Amino acid sequence: MEQVSVGMVGLGTVGAGVARILTQHADRIARRSGRRIELKWAVVRDLKKRRDADFEGVRVVDDVRRVIDDPEVQIVVELIGGVDAARRIVLDALAAGKHVVTANKALLAEHGPEVFAAARAADRAVAFEASVGGGIPILGAINVGLAANQIQSLAAILNGTCNYILTQMTQEGIAYADALAGAQSLGYAEADPTLDVNGTDTAHKLAVLAQLAFGASVKTTDIPREGIDRLEIADLKYARELGYTIKLLAHARLADGALELRVAPSLVRNDAPLAQVHGPYNAIRVVGDAVGDTFFHGRGAGMMPTASAVVADVIDVATGRALLTSRTLDFWSATAPAVPLLPASQSRRRNYLRFLIADRPGVIAAIAQVLGDRGISIASVIQHEPSDGEGGEPGPVPLVIMTHLAVEEDLREAIRAIDRLDVVRAPSVRLGVEE
Ligand code: NAP
Ligand code: HSE
Repeated sequence: MEQVSVGMVGLGTVGAGVARILTQHADRIARRSGRRIELKWAVVRDLKKRRDADFEGVRVVDDVRRVIDDPEVQIVVELIGGVDAARRIVLDALAAGKHVVTANKALLAEHGPEVFAAARAADRAVAFEASVGGGIPILGAINVGLAANQIQSLAAILNGTCNYILTQMTQEGIAYADALAGAQSLGYAEADPTLDVNGTDTAHKLAVLAQLAFGASVKTTDIPREGIDRLEIADLKYARELGYTIKLLAHARLADGALELRVAPSLVRNDAPLAQVHGPYNAIRVVGDAVGDTFFHGRGAGMMPTASAVVADVIDVATGRALLTSRTLDFWSATAPAVPLLPASQSRRRNYLRFLIADRPGVIAAIAQVLGDRGISIASVIQHEPSDGEGGEPGPVPLVIMTHLAVEEDLREAIRAIDRLDVVRAPSVRLGVEE
């Protein structure tokens, strides 16, 4: 049987899972791929670090050149994360005639055109299923299973850390910081977890999806993004009262030839499938013009689910399928037509607004007036009884308003005007609704 040698750079959460599958299930992998796939090298940063497992036959080293310069190695698996060192390793591997497998969405989002230009020049494959949705084979589904369709929209939970935190906060009443620490200890978070909670990781993944589903070559900075780091528990509670769950969503929609993209904590109706996605699970709702509505669900982060996607890519590369896909689909091609992005100010959606207002006659009317003046129609309102403020006077009260569809620039202008009213006691909170 033909043998394929693999050099893996990174033996952390995901790398250890890949090593476990390749070394412990070698016969199954050989049956699936028609080749014996040998994990020859694993490169780490710190050779002295204690590893939980010993992988028989794998040479663990701290010099990536051992892999790049080894003529037997056909596939380099990059699992170190970050951008600069990973970019160098991937470009060097391609230049040395190796195929590449990576789970690195940050690298693809920042340097997709350069990486794929190098892959084309070397006529080598770059496979990246694990970069989006962890163990969910969403990229294969878009590239192959849904190839007959023009994708019309995507709505997705793409960050396991954020979804785990939101689930812990809403279902278990656990504080944000403790939930984040839990996600880190379970291996879900990035080395810098700020990238998870501020929405950047989700934007990296949306940039990859936008390329595959719409042919759009977008930079992360082109994607309006908010994370969950400034969400308040009060909004999780009011949303629930209104029949919604808050999720960090990636959203993409093609309308009139322009692509709308955003990452934001958004309200999802409790009966929608996305609202039922809990813990580290991810889900992607894809609407295609022929297939209609589809829904993909599975573990979006963690050792073995991510390793499942990485090893699938290794098999795809070893069999030659990945090179065929790379050549045919021509990812991040310089010659692909540019897809215009819808300016964020022009997007339209329903909104959840929360104001902290003085409990006085006429305040709700004043706010409704500002919204009405900008053509923003109110769908529902909640105001609870005030608690006592200082000196027995009623304290400020939260007022929650759900709007009908509103154009973003009108809404922003209305919020600025409302925040200037003297009866408004704190900056307003705004969250969009995903329909
Ligand atoms: P990790 O646990 O931090 O592991 C990183 C590994 O890379 C470690 O073994 C580290 O060595 C090694 N490393 C770092 N810099 C290196 C360098 N310059 N040269 C050689 N080795 C180096 O990371 P991870 O969670 O496995 O994530 C790896 C990649 O997968 C990232 O791109 C991440 O975004 C992506 N990903 C992760 C998940 C997940 O759930 N964790 C899911 C999907 C995708 P030491 O062990 O010596 O420190
Ligand atoms: N940090 C990422 C997450 C890993 O939490 O989803 C998977 O890409």
